Amino acid sequence: MIRIGTLDLEFNLLLAPMAGYTNLPFRLTIRELGGLGLATTDLVNARSLLESRAKAFQLIETSPADRPLAIQLFGSVLEEMRDAASMAESMGIESIDINMGCPVPKVCRAGGGSVWMIDVEKSARIAAAMVKAVHVPVTAKMRLGWDAQHVNAPDLARLLADAGIAAITVHGRTRDQGFSGAVSLAGIRAVVEAAPRIPIIGNGDVTTAQAAAEMIRLTGCQGISIGRGAFYNPWIFRETASYLQTGELPSEPGFEDRIAFMSRHLDRMIEVFGEAHACRMFRKVAPLYARRFGPSREFNRRMAGIQTRADFDHAIEVYRQWRLQFLDGDGALKPAYQPRPLASSFADIDTRSNPLLISDGSEVFGQ
Ligand SMILES: Cc1cc2nc3c(=O)[nH]c(=O)nc-3n(C[C@H](O)[C@H](O)[C@H](O)COP(=O)(O)O)c2cc1C
Repeated sequence: MIRIGTLDLEFNLLLAPMAGYTNLPFRLTIRELGGLGLATTDLVNARSLLESRAKAFQLIETSPADRPLAIQLFGSVLEEMRDAASMAESMGIESIDINMGCPVPKVCRAGGGSVWMIDVEKSARIAAAMVKAVHVPVTAKMRLGWDAQHVNAPDLARLLADAGIAAITVHGRTRDQGFSGAVSLAGIRAVVEAAPRIPIIGNGDVTTAQAAAEMIRLTGCQGISIGRGAFYNPWIFRETASYLQTGELPSEPGFEDRIAFMSRHLDRMIEVFGEAHACRMFRKVAPLYARRFGPSREFNRRMAGIQTRADFDHAIEVYRQWRLQFLDGDGALKPAYQPRPLASSFADIDTRSNPLLISDGSEVFGQ
């Protein structure tokens, strides 16, 4: 379906890296649902990896079922980025992604993330050195620019394509916008036009199959990268793949399907992180799934305190009972309690005139 350098992906749909969320347990669980072309690790400090720090190895923890996989590196020193790419290749990783979009001060202060959007010639030099050092594809993930006055993604994309970068994911916001505000489809389109020889993957606020199709249609991008939408609806990859191929949407998974997915995710977290740590981490993940449950106050309250797998089961059981009051005779949510449809904040599509459509809810994620 899409070719990134030497890598053939079955689907043109990518899981966007989200530090602290898209770790091995989540990736394995979401891969089982189908439709996902490529997943990426959290961002990893190239120097930490070269120094074989435990934290870096934890971040790139993977398994044979977690394929195909890209590792995402951040850093600012040519030699470190180049050698970390070689090291990742020797570990059997299929693709190397360079983080050029992270807005977090800690990453930017070290010259990583969005800082790559400032000195584009330097960025292209580092990218070229990485491309030369490995046989696997090297890709980049960027924003539209540092701020509204410096929207230079097309310039950077052109230089990166010349440097041998195999594909570019563009988050249609500037660094200044963080994770909220409108995603500019025109901005993504400009990158597609600037680097016509390589696949451009559109990213930002895609929470439905229709939004993915709209982004592809209006920008000409070849694929879509989905982050937060994968937590609101883990079936989004399968649904989008089907919608793009046939124009048809499979029926929406029900409440019990969502509970089952969430439970499998937690079980894998426990395997990887141990029960206590996994449960603590899951407290911030569970409310994301609950966005499609209908009324979820009781659920979120109970999840905030889970310490064990048994606590989780108990919380689910109590919530199931509490939720009965919102169901009709067939066990479906009464219309007044159904969650509002998910919608995107694309600048070029007028969704805001429709009060039923809500924005992405980025506020519930923390870095
Ligand atoms: C909590 C959180 C962590 C993120 N971590 C990373 C990261 O490690 N590397 C990266 O390139 N982008 C990271 N991002 C950005 C996402 O990959 C993505 O570009 C952004 O969330 C917009 O896409 P979405 O609307 O589909 O979520 C992160 C975003 C969030 C919300």
